[in-house]
Amino acid sequence: MLQYAIKGGNPLVGEVEIGGAKNAALPILAASLMTDDTVYLDNLPDVRDINVLLAAMENIGVMAKHASRHRVTLNAGHINSFVIEDDNIKRIRASYYLIGALLGKYRHAEVALPGGCNIGSRAIDLHIKGFRALGAEVTIDHGLIKANAEKLVGNHIYMDSVSVGATMNIMMAAAMAEGKTTIENAAKEPHVVDLANFMNSMGANIKGAGTDVIRIKGVSKLHGTDYTIIPDQIEAGTFMFAAVATKGDVTVKNVIPKHLESITAKLLEMGCEIDEEDDCVRVVASKPLKHTQVKTLPYPGFPTDMQPQITVALALSEGTSIVTETIFENRFKYVDELTKMGASIKVEGTTAIIDGVSKYTGASITAPDLRAGAALVIAALAAEGFSTIDDINYIQRGYEDFHLKLQSLGGQIEMVENGVENQKFRLKTG
Ligand code: EPZ
Repeated sequence: MLQYAIKGGNPLVGEVEIGGAKNAALPILAASLMTDDTVYLDNLPDVRDINVLLAAMENIGVMAKHASRHRVTLNAGHINSFVIEDDNIKRIRASYYLIGALLGKYRHAEVALPGGCNIGSRAIDLHIKGFRALGAEVTIDHGLIKANAEKLVGNHIYMDSVSVGATMNIMMAAAMAEGKTTIENAAKEPHVVDLANFMNSMGANIKGAGTDVIRIKGVSKLHGTDYTIIPDQIEAGTFMFAAVATKGDVTVKNVIPKHLESITAKLLEMGCEIDEEDDCVRVVASKPLKHTQVKTLPYPGFPTDMQPQITVALALSEGTSIVTETIFENRFKYVDELTKMGASIKVEGTTAIIDGVSKYTGASITAPDLRAGAALVIAALAAEGFSTIDDINYIQRGYEDFHLKLQSLGGQIEMVENGVENQKFRLKTG
């Protein structure tokens, strides 16, 4: 089993290039099967969740060719099945985007129930409610979600709670429906806007993405496009907190600073220096870190996907900090691992009460999910001595070349295959 072997203690210093946003790329990939024409996608991250979705699309007849590592050419003119149930697809959450895309274009989809990180209850009732409102019949049968429609007709859909996935799925299903669809209480995340921009570049008529109300006028056909996916705000934020926890100085490049505002606001409260330019942000953490309070919220609030990373930094700050998770009820599972490294955190329900400590010490720990895994890597890079992180396959779902990018900033981290290699790393770096 692959592990990260880490020797902590070096401040991370330098520049790091941020890749395309995984959570934008997933729905965009799915939506690219809604045309028979060729679609060119640029800035596609080379991470496991993307590659699983791409393989599932190839299994039903989508032709995919990489022109380079991050540029792919897709043609879905010869789809031969609407059933997607391979073993890998069951492990990712974003499989559900294939329902919206297939239903939207072909009026028929059968997709294995989504998996994904175990961070709390991950219902799909809002997706189903939306598909039904457009006229689809939706059933769950032998682990498959089956959606069928004679025809799809636009409707007024109110989202009972803000859901990124349901907003984008309904957008896809409604893009080629008859008439107008309005999605009220829609998610406003940058990836929702990116999907709308992508679909509009294919000829869709979607207005209001990025606000609470999205209005879609159905079109009869979508055409090919050449589109560049936005930078990953969560990857960028992760490196920003890696700089902070290690008391470093890191510039994240190829970012949209506006998407990082809730993160930079918290970093300023914590006493870090931030320098923003058009497409990069520099974070310097030269002073002792200050405590603060954080509540995760839908965009433009502080992202739940950054909650473990800020907690790792706050646990090294002076005083008591409070972090409240409002999106997923089970997203503090990493706290036990962080405690092994010396953190002092008490979790009460969905709130973590953090008493700052002066340092972490290295330990053998396990990544419980994608973002928590990345946060634990940051903790290990900040810690005194050696750490080993297991179950790094979670981290590989969403971070491209994570250890290589950290190495380029001076982090002592290697991906090793077994205890012998781990021992060699310790001898080399010790
Ligand atoms: C997306 O998940 C992301 N995943 C998550 O990123 C991210 O944490 C989350 O949005 C919130 O930003 C992908 O994009 C693949 P939601 P999603 O629907 O779409 C409830 C990462 O680390 N809900 O916005 O599943 C739900 O239980 C991952 O990259 C319903 O009740 O999130 C949750 O409490 C992890 N019914 C809340 O809404 C539904 O039908 C928000 O979920 C759907 C959701």
